Amino acid sequence: MKIAVYPGTFDPITNGHLDIIKRGLTIFDKIIVTIALNSSKKPLFSAEERMDMIRCSTVGMDNIEVASFRGLIAPWVKTQNAHTIIRGLRAISDFEYEFQMALMNRKINESIDTIFLMPNARYTFLNSTIIREMGRLQGDVAQFVPSCVVERLKEKFPD
Ligand code: COA
Repeated sequence: MKIAVYPGTFDPITNGHLDIIKRGLTIFDKIIVTIALNSSKKPLFSAEERMDMIRCSTVGMDNIEVASFRGLIAPWVKTQNAHTIIRGLRAISDFEYEFQMALMNRKINESIDTIFLMPNARYTFLNSTIIREMGRLQGDVAQFVPSCVVERLKEKFPD
């Protein structure tokens, strides 16, 4: 079974992340979408809330597992019997950081490879910060995130 791990902060998951997940499912038998718990970011949503949003956004996709991890991703990937990390590349500006991370992850665990997938061009400008900002200012995010995420943002930022 070909298993890949898709790590991130997912604060919250967006249609751009979902696009990467769907593309990944055409290559892998199973994708573990996993939330970094000790990232330097200060998430708006709790880990449980973020995992719930990934679950509700991937309803109907059979081969998705939602998880979380602490510490370095490379050793964690190994505990899942996986050898591949999926990362999205939205623009050339993503590349340098991703290249460094991929090589460091390989240094930590020689058997790990990172696969880069490009989302549909209509999602290349998206990130979770923009979505949170839109939500905070009561902007319409319906075309950028799954409907259950729209609801969670409304709960976080009531009128
Ligand atoms: N669609 C929409 N947005 C996307 C996207 C896509 N396809 N791909 C990335 N983004 C957004 C993310 O939402 C995020 O937005 P934000 O900065 O506004 O929150 C931003 O682009 C950066 O995303 P990403 O590069 O995935 O960073 P991340 O913070 O979500 O995840 C980790 C980074 C957690 C995977 C990485 O830091 C990690 O592995 N940490 C563990 C420690 C470790 O092992 N480090 C590596 C070796 S030193």
